[in-house]
Amino acid sequence: MATGDQQHIQAATELPMIRIFDTTLRDGEQSPGASLNTREKLEIARQLELLNVDIIEAGFPITSNDDFEAVRQIAGVIRNCSVAALARTVEKDIVRAAEAVREAAKPRIHVFCATSKIHREYKLKRAKEEIIKISVEGVKLARSFVEDVEFSPEDASRTELPFLSEVVEAVIEAGAGTVNIPDTVGYSTPDHFAHVITHLFATVKNIHRAVISVHCHNDLGLAVANSLAAVQAGARQIECTVNGLGERAGNCSLEEVVMAIKMRPDVFKAQTRINTKRIYPISRLVSSLTGIHVQRNKAIVGENAFAHESGIHQHGMLSNRKTYEIMDPEDVGIPASKLVLGKHSGRHALRDRLIQLGFELTEEQIDKVFEQFKALADRKKEIFDEDLEALVKDMFDEASNGRAWELVSLQTTAGTNTVPTATIKLRNTATGEIITDAATGDGPIDAAFSCILRMTGTDAVLREFELRALTGGRDALGEVSLELVSRARSFRGRGRSTDVIEASVLAYINALNRLTRATNDRQKVENP
Ligand code: KIV
Ligand code: ZN
Repeated sequence: MATGDQQHIQAATELPMIRIFDTTLRDGEQSPGASLNTREKLEIARQLELLNVDIIEAGFPITSNDDFEAVRQIAGVIRNCSVAALARTVEKDIVRAAEAVREAAKPRIHVFCATSKIHREYKLKRAKEEIIKISVEGVKLARSFVEDVEFSPEDASRTELPFLSEVVEAVIEAGAGTVNIPDTVGYSTPDHFAHVITHLFATVKNIHRAVISVHCHNDLGLAVANSLAAVQAGARQIECTVNGLGERAGNCSLEEVVMAIKMRPDVFKAQTRINTKRIYPISRLVSSLTGIHVQRNKAIVGENAFAHESGIHQHGMLSNRKTYEIMDPEDVGIPASKLVLGKHSGRHALRDRLIQLGFELTEEQIDKVFEQFKALADRKKEIFDEDLEALVKDMFDEASNGRAWELVSLQTTAGTNTVPTATIKLRNTATGEIITDAATGDGPIDAAFSCILRMTGTDAVLREFELRALTGGRDALGEVSLELVSRARSFRGRGRSTDVIEASVLAYINALNRLTRATNDRQKVENP
């Protein structure tokens, strides 16, 4: 058997190509509290293009005007990847998806319909024949707009196999070029999932006319293993998300599945087109923009993924890195050094570092970040990558969400035997009016939040609150991530400051601004 570099050369020339279908912006964004605005989605889409994914699923256009607009804008700028839009087998969904991807260089419509018994009986209330009929009609309608149509039998892994084969055969006949087999509820196991794929190859007569794809959820922590088992059984497209983001326990993690294929061509006998050096930057970007942190010990991109603590390991690493490291961190884009910037760093150094971190900013955007960078450097001696990411994130946030409310000033008192009090001045940006109020609470943060709720007249409830230091050191930026819930919708907000009470208030106002924007959008849709 070939070893080491030889294996990789062999892999690059002979092995079948697995298409990487990224659904961070659609399924990933469905994860509670992970909502992204259009500008943020565009930035992620650009990075996905640099990562060299084959398909970007940009959204589900029928669900909101925002989703439609994000898909439309992404379709307008992405040239090297297919851009897909999701649709149910419903005419208005498909028409809207087609409109959204119209400007794409390579448009794809992804149509889905549930096929399992439980979904047929309790969700769709339709018989098997009707499911086949609407699936076929959906694919045909999508094909009237674009060449490239994908079909997903939702909850495929819990669908009776003979019926699944029937559906797959019918949609291929109707013109689906890709058939995606979802393990929607993360119920499958590697053996079972491979069996489903093998069964399809054995029973669907026209299967050679379509690419078989897989889409695994991670409820049992098996999404990556199931996807890889499917590749061994013949699947040639994997649907996945950056950092494994997604509903509930998430989706198959892009970085894990790609690196498994890259590191073990002897086992999976396949390759992808992914530029693995872009993995770490996009992981950081997605975590920073969604506010969903990557766990420390997460494979490939976690903070500890390449950290060696024990003496035995460190000794081995010094003699030969390969004793305890199967991958080179630089292969996944982890920078060799942590460059620290400071007060005396110029715009040029900042620009270089932003590029290394994976940001593609315009000169005007760099100017804005540089302004904030200088202000931060006056408060903080060393500026780390995390600080820079925070500055970029704030810039995107401000540009896209707009600000219904702006903090003018905050004063709090707290301490032993004192009633915690917050006095706040807010600017209503629509009217320019500045309002002042004060409130008491269990602590200064609680007082500030009660005060803001009263001032803005919103009914949101605080569901989650997390405070962490972005970097080490006493002058570290404190970052607050929180989630507000209003009318069953959740809105995430983030704020950063060297003062943690100010960071909390900024996060609260940031979430309220998202909530206000969503409420205004909904009103526009309801009363156009
Ligand atoms: O999990 C799922 O079944 C999906 C489909 C829409 C592909 O996300
Ligand atoms: Zn899914």
